[in-house]
Formats: sequence, C-alpha cells, structure tokens
Amino acid sequence: MSSVVSKSVDPYLIRRKADFQAFTVNPNDFKSLDGIIGGMDHNQPDYEESPTKRAARTEIIGAYRLLSGNFSIPTDRSLWSLCFSSQEIQQFVNSKLIDPSQYRGINRDRGLVDKLKLQQPTAKFYRGEWRTVVQELNSVPACIYFDSTQEIENRELQEEIACTMRLCPKETLLAVNVIVQNPQRGNHRLLDTKFGRFLANRFDGAYLNTWDLEGSAYEYKTNRTQMKTFLFWRLA
Ligand SMILES: C[S@@+](CC[C@H](N)C(=O)[O-])C[C@H]1O[C@@H](n2cnc3c(N)ncnc32)[C@H](O)[C@@H]1O
Repeated sequence: MSSVVSKSVDPYLIRRKADFQAFTVNPNDFKSLDGIIGGMDHNQPDYEESPTKRAARTEIIGAYRLLSGNFSIPTDRSLWSLCFSSQEIQQFVNSKLIDPSQYRGINRDRGLVDKLKLQQPTAKFYRGEWRTVVQELNSVPACIYFDSTQEIENRELQEEIACTMRLCPKETLLAVNVIVQNPQRGNHRLLDTKFGRFLANRFDGAYLNTWDLEGSAYEYKTNRTQMKTFLFWRLA
C-alpha cells in the first residue's frame, strides 16, 4: 500500500512533525514536561489524578501545539472528549489550551454527566453514545480526545473512529486512546495493520491523503494495562 502522507505537505508541517516525533516523554517526568509546555497551574488540586494519565493528556496538548502552531485552540473551535472527571477539563483549561466554554464532554452515563455539569457549569456535557452525540454537535472541533478502553482491532471502535474522522475539518488533532492486549513486535505502519485496511476500505485514497495517520503514537502504562494513543492529524 502506498504512503498516505501527501507528497505536497508543507515543509513547515514536516519540520513540526519531526519536532513532534522527538517529543517522546517519560511519564514520570511529567512535571518537567509542564515546564516545556508552559502555562500549567500547579496550585490546582487533583488528588485522585494519576501522573501517568496527566502525562498522557499533556502529550496531546503538546502534539496539538506542535502540529497546529497554536498555543490555544482558536475561540471559534472546540475540544471534544470522552469525559470522565473534572480533572481532565481542569488540565486543559489550566494549561491554557482552552477556555471551559470550548469543552464538549460526552459520556453515556447520566449520573456522571449530571455531576460534571454541576462541577463545570461553563463547559458543555452531553449524555449519550459518542457517535450519536457528535453527529448532532453544533460545534467545530480542533482537538478530539477519544479516550477509549477498547482495542484498535475492535470493530465498534473502528466505526467510531471513522464516524469521528468525517467530522474533522482541516487542522484537527484526533487522539484515539486504546488498550494494547497483544503488543506487536517491530514497527508496523498503521495502514498495513487490520485497522489500516479498515480505513482503506472505508475511505478513498484522496480523502486518506488529507490525514497524517503515521504521525505518532504515545504509549503508557496504567496499573498493569498497556495503553496507546494514536495521534491523527487532519492536514487539509
Ligand atoms: C477512559 S474514560 C475517559 C477518561 C477521560 N478522558 C479522562 O482523561 O479523565 C472513558 C469513558 O467514556 C465512556 N464511554 C466509552 N465509550 C463510549 C461511547 N461510545 N459513548 C459514550 N460514552 C462512552 C466510558 O463509560 C467511560 O466513562
């Protein structure tokens, strides 16, 4: 299969991508990483927060900044997330990536969504299935954190990713978090994997060329679970 990265990509973007690939982080160093990215407010209480999870989100913030060249998401665009706790939105707000009003949190759990609405009244939260909610969101994303606990081979997850990709305008970062049960040895190009074949069947080559799907993936461990965040960048 030929490369999906467009040959006409702006050299500036390629340079940024090289920066980004060099941007690998030891989750234990997350505090020093805050120093690199800047703007983090360490006075914010986050008692239940795991440093590893925080570092994974910090990676996404850094990736968005490097790829877009924007320190903050433009005010007319938003950040969509499979939400869980208010620590997540606090981290995005404290790092100055977004204003709370730019956050769109989605979860199928009504109790959780009701609690988050009370905790973060200026953000927007929606109860429901991701695919149904995002198709009705009247909001233009710039960064999407699809923080799932499925494997990349899971067909339902693949359908969710394809549906979400269709809603991304240019210069959108789609971060897809997955569980890795069976780590593959060696470096496999994403498009040569089963997931890559799913995408190639779902979209035509011209459309896939508008995405950088090979940019980077960030791996980390929570408790005993190996996680991986694929970072997909919509170029044009
Ligand atoms: C891993 S947690 C999100 C954590 C959050 N991003 C954070 O950093 O704190 C994923 C949440 O999304 C919910 N969820 C998973 N798939 C969903 C879907 N397709 N639609 C709606 N909610 C979903 C799960 O029940 C869970 O509460």
